[in-house]
Amino acid sequence: MSGRFAGRTAVVTGGASGIGAATAARLTAEGASVLVVDVVAEPPRTCAGYLRGDVAEEETWDRVAEWGPIDVIVSNAAAAEVAPAHLTRAGRTVSRPPCSTGSARPRRWPR
Ligand SMILES: NC(=O)c1ccc[n+]([C@@H]2O[C@H](COP(=O)([O-])OP(=O)(O)OC[C@H]3O[C@@H](n4cnc5c(N)ncnc54)[C@H](O)[C@@H]3O)[C@@H](O)[C@H]2O)c1
Repeated sequence: MSGRFAGRTAVVTGGASGIGAATAARLTAEGASVLVVDVVAEPPRTCAGYLRGDVAEEETWDRVAEWGPIDVIVSNAAAAEVAPAHLTRAGRTVSRPPCSTGSARPRRWPR
């Protein structure tokens, strides 16, 4: 690894599983100090910090801001489900909030 994120602080939402967990692990391997934010109770193994919270809630971002200055935010969290084909046009994947409504707008960004 190049260490190109050495000395950087990164926040990865939805980082407890899937793409977010892989992103958090890679950023960590590249030297970043990674804070994972996720609704699940179990934090991933490869991160400097874990905050259990819903990205659709402003209070979550207030707690993220307490973590200190942030260099990188990976806004990855979303919940999606595949509905039965008869409930969707062409059986597409349908997304639920926060994917459709986005994350809460933080009252104050970390930096
Ligand atoms: N996997 C795919 O094929 C695919 C395709 C297109 C887009 N995406 C997008 O990529 C992102 C990650 O996908 P994935 O497959 O890794 O999903 P995943 O379900 O494996 O992981 C999503 C994570 O987000 C967390 N999460 C969900 N709602 C949250 C909330 N309100 N607050 C905090 N955390 C929350 C979940 O607990 C989970 O850990 C999503 O935004 C998804 O829509 C995925």
